[in-house]
Amino acid sequence: MEVKTKVRRPLQEIYGEIADVYEATNHVLTLGLDRGWRRRAARRAAAGGGTLWLDVCSGTGEMAQNLSRIAPAGTRLVALDFSRPMLSHARTKAMDAPTSFSLGEVAHLPFPEGRFDLITISFATRNINLSREILTATFREFLRVLKPGGRFMNLETSQPRNSLVRGLFHLYTALVVRRVGRRRSGSRSGYAYLAASMRNFYGTEELAAILRTAGFASVSVKQLLLGASAIHLAVKADVSALESGEPKTRPLTG
Ligand SMILES: C[S@@+](CC[C@H](N)C(=O)[O-])C[C@H]1O[C@@H](n2cnc3c(N)ncnc32)[C@H](O)[C@@H]1O
Repeated sequence: MEVKTKVRRPLQEIYGEIADVYEATNHVLTLGLDRGWRRRAARRAAAGGGTLWLDVCSGTGEMAQNLSRIAPAGTRLVALDFSRPMLSHARTKAMDAPTSFSLGEVAHLPFPEGRFDLITISFATRNINLSREILTATFREFLRVLKPGGRFMNLETSQPRNSLVRGLFHLYTALVVRRVGRRRSGSRSGYAYLAASMRNFYGTEELAAILRTAGFASVSVKQLLLGASAIHLAVKADVSALESGEPKTRPLTG
């Protein structure tokens, strides 16, 4: 299934407009559940170790901050986003690991290949694009900058499998997310777009298939709140280890 959402305004403009209220509005809309989901996703992502981690579409830096709290000594973090106002909120966050901030676009990451042990993204994949082709190309860009054996963690809203739960979820996005977001931010089109992107995003198996098509191996999924959100973990296969007869990926834990 190919899903499409009409984006009337450039996303950078939308995020510039809602940056000051984005984080608090999220906590209201999820009744605070998003905090726990980020913590849980960060723990799963961090379990594989490594010394250089990249959080893309970092926004106000909540995932980067969670990662910094559990990063082993010696780990460095990079938080990347294309919205200057969102990133300026991230810069004010107390980070427990050395963190640098990068203004950049995920389609063309400003890093050489094979650089990172871990890439994370939270609640932003559906913003990159809903087209299967564009998402595949973006995941290939993530693969380019990951080291062999490096991991990708994706935390995103999803589609509950149960049709009744899915119906209630869609009703919630249409009635609550759209209206409360608009009231709190003053942005009519911003939260209309965000609510529509939640309804139209892929289910867990579809997203797993896109990750595999892009070239990721060992894709695993953990559903949250009856499938309203999900954590995908995926690995860049280590071809050299495969050739030498060692396991081709590190085991996924967490
Ligand atoms: C819904 S917010 C998520 C922020 C944060 N990761 C979180 O967990 O709350 C989406 C973020 O992705 C950024 N973004 C969207 N598309 C992007 C792209 N193509 N390149 C870089 N950043 C992008 C936006 O600027 C925004 O800050």
